[in-house]
Amino acid sequence: MLNFNYYNPTRIRFGKDTIAEIDSLVPSDAKVMILFGGSSARKTGTLDEVKQSLGNRFIVEFDGIEPNPTYETLMKAVAQVHEQNIDFLLAVGGGSVIDGTKFVAAAAVFEGEPWDILMGAKVTQAMPFGSVLTLPATGSEMNNASVVTRKSLQAKLPFRNDLVYPQFSILDPTKTFTLPERQVANGVVDAFVHITEQYLTYPVNAAVQDRFAEGLLQILIELGPKVLVQPEDYDIRANLMWVATVALNGTIGVGVPHDWATHMIGHELTALYDIDHARTLAIVLPALLQCTKEAKREKLLQYADRVWHINTGTDDERIDAAIAKTKAFFEAMGIATHLSAYNLDASHVETVVKQLEQHGMVALGEHGNIDPAMSRKILTLAL
Ligand code: NZQ
Ligand code: ZN
Repeated sequence: MLNFNYYNPTRIRFGKDTIAEIDSLVPSDAKVMILFGGSSARKTGTLDEVKQSLGNRFIVEFDGIEPNPTYETLMKAVAQVHEQNIDFLLAVGGGSVIDGTKFVAAAAVFEGEPWDILMGAKVTQAMPFGSVLTLPATGSEMNNASVVTRKSLQAKLPFRNDLVYPQFSILDPTKTFTLPERQVANGVVDAFVHITEQYLTYPVNAAVQDRFAEGLLQILIELGPKVLVQPEDYDIRANLMWVATVALNGTIGVGVPHDWATHMIGHELTALYDIDHARTLAIVLPALLQCTKEAKREKLLQYADRVWHINTGTDDERIDAAIAKTKAFFEAMGIATHLSAYNLDASHVETVVKQLEQHGMVALGEHGNIDPAMSRKILTLAL
């Protein structure tokens, strides 16, 4: 196992009716900005519940944080934070709203041009914030990462900082009942790929992380298709919600190598062609596994055996079968695994590779050897 330094300060309040607990989690004299997305928080009544729990506190609403939150929109929130002397942020939504709130938390107190945060500038302070999660997928509710898009540059870039862990996150599985099927499927696939990015690398004898990861993958494989036919089943929703959180809150990621190439290539596909985050991952991952199967051989064999119970055939046959099963799982969730499903062809592959180069994404993967030529190969295989 590799050395690690594990820190996760986010308090989780999980279960039915936990929104009412916000009152005890936000300072009573706080001036609160509630940040949310397009219309779902208002329509579903979640926003009203949150406001009720905040009682008499001073509240400002900031709506319109779009999926794949943009710098352009978030900077408007930053301006309002300053104008209204806001001192506490509360995100109500999915990964986009929570990521956006993390950026606002850092940008509002950043000295200099906030876009530099996405260009690697050090964040040394951030406003306190909490979240009410309405879409299990990204793990943003319990991690220190945020991904922001700058529309004018067609750039979608991540930043990480320990100051942007939410102080608390409310996870009420009943709040996910209103999700459209497409977002439910996206969440399952996103969480699945978060796990593979931290698991399908090379062995370092990290038995705890491996067995956790394998268990979480199996839960997604079992419950993913079930939630599509039993969308109102509380226990399925609760388990999926917690899996998505644990998939990216550090538990399985400490002490092991990480890949993240699928995500970095996927981010370019979203920035250029507006494909949902999880859908880009379903396109890239199977092709990436195929192209990197020598380097990932041992873990792919372990994955085939322990996750998919594939025990017959040569090593190559078992690896190929595991990749095929992975693809079939994404397709069963209603998510395409080819670029052609989005009318993209070889000419678009070149555009994506150019963007990767422009954003310095030229040494990806756990060995840093996914260069532009390899990214081209992966994307071409994904056509
Ligand atoms: O905007 P509204 O009207 O609220 O609708 C949203 C949105 O259109 C809707 N929705 C959310 N909760 C709902 C609901 N509709 C009905 N009922 C509910 N309860 O769902 C749509 C998608 O929401 P979004 O927040 O964009 O989805 P997701 O949670 O998948 O977040 C995706 C973003 O997270 C980033 C992605 O890059 C992308 O920008 N990621 C963040 C990560 C992190 N912070 O660690 C890691 C991930 O890999 C990912 O990169
Ligand atoms: Zn993701």
